[in-house]
Amino acid sequence: MTNPGKISTAQVVTIVGARPQFVKAAELSVALAQAGIAEFMVHTGQHYDRNMSAIFFEALDLQEPDVNLEIGSGHHGAQTGAMLTAIEALLLRAKESGARPLVLLYGDTNSTLAGALAAAKIGLPIAHVEAGLRSFRRDMPEEINRVLTDRLSTALYCPTRLAVDNLAEEGITHGVFMTGDVMCDAVIRQHAAAGTTLPRPEGPYRLATLHRASNTDDPVVLQRILDSIADPNCPAHLPLHPRTRARIQQFGTRVPDRGLVLRDPVGYREMLALVASATQVLTDSGGLQKEALMLGTPCITLREETEWVETVSLGWNVLVGSDPACITHAMQHHCPGGDPPRPYGDGNAAARIVSHLRTIIPGEES
Ligand code: UD1
Repeated sequence: MTNPGKISTAQVVTIVGARPQFVKAAELSVALAQAGIAEFMVHTGQHYDRNMSAIFFEALDLQEPDVNLEIGSGHHGAQTGAMLTAIEALLLRAKESGARPLVLLYGDTNSTLAGALAAAKIGLPIAHVEAGLRSFRRDMPEEINRVLTDRLSTALYCPTRLAVDNLAEEGITHGVFMTGDVMCDAVIRQHAAAGTTLPRPEGPYRLATLHRASNTDDPVVLQRILDSIADPNCPAHLPLHPRTRARIQQFGTRVPDRGLVLRDPVGYREMLALVASATQVLTDSGGLQKEALMLGTPCITLREETEWVETVSLGWNVLVGSDPACITHAMQHHCPGGDPPRPYGDGNAAARIVSHLRTIIPGEES
């Protein structure tokens, strides 16, 4: 814990825990500081390996978290429950010391849900960045986290019009704002900061990521995907999520020795540089589908559905699941032309969010 006392003066308590949240929080943190709003940052410890956490704080110039709860990995109930207990204790301490902060949450991880539950029960206002996204699949833990967090939120900051419509379908119309996507801010700012000097593979390559339970936790599916994405003429570079690395070891999955390069996870700027220069992206991540579009790289998504449907309807992303024939076909033929469209905003989402946040932070309402 670097700065626990600071919570008594916090106006906003930010809760993060997983890689994509660090990227988005970096954008909002800068905007909050510029607006003179006192932020207290809580890291739940959901991601804890150096290359899943610390390198993001360093490379994004993100302030060190004020507290790291060090919850770590676990089954969903155990992990979310441990976070809930720890966040509640922290928020109660803030309240007892006279603070009444707004709780700022990102995305759809177990850290997000734990923050929402803790804040709602204590009666603190909640702002949710990336509200309204839906895969319409309740077998995805993230979908449960999203639906519940949106239901409990005071301010819902939607990246797209469709996200606003999804909320309306569920009867949520109050406190809903279409702000554009903070991830778009991040791509513009961080890609510019990355410049052209970061290392990239020589020759044509595809950039791949794989971490969803549905793709990694079944040995047959995992083997099928690794075999399908391997291509000696255009090798797939796959920075390995620790879950995927562990499953490969546990299952004894055979890693094709040609056409597939397994690597350690990389930092955000290096990732953007790798995406921008790749022939195609192969992924089951949510954020990467958008990053690929923003950087003009065709995306092949190893899922049956996506929350980012604009990437598909605009022709820059295809959904192929884990079927080898579909993956191979897309690798050979998915090649959209022209300049990539910009459905995710203009890179000013963080500024829009902060200017609204000022109006609902307890004690600052205007
Ligand atoms: C989580 C989010 C997912 C998000 C992803 C970003 C949930 C339910 N899922 O998935 O929405 O897209 O983060 O990466 O919150 N592990 C390590 N070291 C780490 C972190 C994880 O070894 O630093 C391993 C552990 O074996 C752990 C597994 O990865 O059990 C899964 O980690 P977890 O945080 O539970 O979920 P993610 O798959 O990362």
